[in-house]
Amino acid sequence: MADEFAIESSLKEKRRFEPDPKWSRAALVPGKAAYRRMVKEAEKDFRRYWARHAKENVSWFTPWKKILDWKPPRARWFVGGKTNVSYNCLDRHLEGENAWRKNKAAIIWEGEPGDRRVLTYGDLHREVCKFANVLKDRGVKKGDRVILYMPLVPELAIAMLACTRIGAVHSIIFGGFSADAIRDRTNDAEARVIVTADGGWRRGQIVRLKDMVDEAIDGGAAVNQVIVLQRTGHDVPMKAGRDLWWHDLMADASPVCKPAKLDSEHPLFILYTSGSTGKPKGILHTTGGYLTHVATTSKYIFDLKETDTYWCTADIGWITGHSYVVYGMLANGATSVMYEGAPNWPDEERFWQIIDRYRVTIFYTAPTAIRTFMKWGADHVKKYDLSSLRLLGTVGEPINPEAWMWYRRVIGHNRCPIVDTWWQTETGGILISPVPGAVATTPGSATLPFPGIFPDIVNEQGESCGPDEGGYLVIKKPWPGMLRGIHGDPERFREQYWSKFDGIYFTGDGARRDRNGYFWVMGRVDDVMNVAGHRLSTMEVESALVSHPKVAEAAVVGRPDEIKGTAVVGFVSLEGDVAFDASLAEELRSHVAREIGPVARPDEVRIAAALPKTRSGKIMRRLLRDVAAGRETTGDTTTLEDFSVLASLRQDEE
Ligand code: WTA
Repeated sequence: MADEFAIESSLKEKRRFEPDPKWSRAALVPGKAAYRRMVKEAEKDFRRYWARHAKENVSWFTPWKKILDWKPPRARWFVGGKTNVSYNCLDRHLEGENAWRKNKAAIIWEGEPGDRRVLTYGDLHREVCKFANVLKDRGVKKGDRVILYMPLVPELAIAMLACTRIGAVHSIIFGGFSADAIRDRTNDAEARVIVTADGGWRRGQIVRLKDMVDEAIDGGAAVNQVIVLQRTGHDVPMKAGRDLWWHDLMADASPVCKPAKLDSEHPLFILYTSGSTGKPKGILHTTGGYLTHVATTSKYIFDLKETDTYWCTADIGWITGHSYVVYGMLANGATSVMYEGAPNWPDEERFWQIIDRYRVTIFYTAPTAIRTFMKWGADHVKKYDLSSLRLLGTVGEPINPEAWMWYRRVIGHNRCPIVDTWWQTETGGILISPVPGAVATTPGSATLPFPGIFPDIVNEQGESCGPDEGGYLVIKKPWPGMLRGIHGDPERFREQYWSKFDGIYFTGDGARRDRNGYFWVMGRVDDVMNVAGHRLSTMEVESALVSHPKVAEAAVVGRPDEIKGTAVVGFVSLEGDVAFDASLAEELRSHVAREIGPVARPDEVRIAAALPKTRSGKIMRRLLRDVAAGRETTGDTTTLEDFSVLASLRQDEE
């Protein structure tokens, strides 16, 4: 259940920032009255409301016959409609009244070493058509899955859009995952083709992506073709008959490729995310509804104007990058900035330099990044001119009011509204967020649902909670961007999201709603941790730990961390007569990084004689969380199998 501490501290938050009238007047939703009209329209008939947005923000080859077919948990949006995502993101900006966008920047990209590229909509269209033809020539057909394991370079967006152009289904694996993760995801998705790069740049080092792919294939990833982009230029072995260079294939590819007319429910992508078991879930999103959702929320929540330069710092390997670096932005004909590398390379000024250089107007980042910037200090920021900024956003985890205020003051100079956007890989797009210019903000709250989204806070029995009462965050009506399933596992889909409350989507988050109806999301109530804005399952890390020959048992918990939100602490008991020494803890941390990827490296590994368990053999995580956080153990401990275990753990600390 939601953390009592968090509820208490957020109850004290009284600061409130009304929209600036001048800002509001120029906004796409110009003030409270306009916002209320939107809310009313959605409440009257949410189907027709979303259909209006689907007409306004998406172009269709064939109109739909039915807006929504809803047989929980199965949703089909815009049934019978035909469209194409790459057509919406590219072609329609090159024809008719929008034809002038041909020479508008679609992507402004900066590599970590300082190399720069701008791709106009015309450029991007040509490259996407070419790569779509490459995929076709390699035998990729409609419905086939393609793994993309790439650095943050324009070619990743090109590959995504090329897949959508021909109806292939992409599955992006974040570059911070390692060989085993690639193998498992590739095989689960039954993909035969991987698109990768020799490497990417991160903190001045080469991230050796191709080596990881080779290792994944040696380890059993059943792919037979690897397309390799040359990014870093270092030597990589190329296996004849399997590996091909991107540039060789592109050299002869035709720049003409018609977009496939795809059913609204045609699968668009699968994105793996951590659940409450050791096995990541392949979250499935489809075409028409997803596009409607991300295009509409991009437009209104970021108040996108033709002249904006928008920068979302997320990696495209996460859902935020899918929805709000690529699809939502390009569907609106916007200019999206991408930066390949680390925020502190070559120094802590890099982000502010980028904002200054490109005159970024909208900046969207994660609370963990903001807390890091705070630690680095405002002096780095002050060296640059950030006066171009007009709107700030955050995503990925609850933001503490202190970080929110710093963001507002130091980055936004008290002039920029902040949109704290709550959503998930599963929701496809933003569900709870202020609409800037129309909704007053308060630090730490994601405020109100986007019009057309119907969340609630309920107790264990599924009854709505009263004001300020903590409970489970649920979504009561379907929405266009909702996940359509877990790839290959309909049972888990039903069980995970739709079984706790019948026919109602369970988010896995705890939250409360205050007297103004504002939502305060407290964090996960399941075994998912939110580490530096990335989702990680305790079980995934546990199974990586026990896969080490010296480990008998492992339990992983999160501990509050000033910068990362949550830090990962692993408790392990060792096999038989294995002796513990400090280097073993280090070895285990590296072992997890190797097994899952550097993103999962535990912050701390602690050795226990035995893990505390209930009589039925369940590990008592609550106690371990207290121990990890250095808190006094509270609550009932009578089910502890071995009191001495807990005592010895606590002694270890002293
Ligand atoms: C958390 C990221 C509080 C939440 C888009 C959710 C947030 C999980 C917020 C999804 C926010 C995301 N305030 N918590 N504004 N945004 N979360 O799938 O716990 O990587 O369930 O999607 O992040 O993480 P995911």
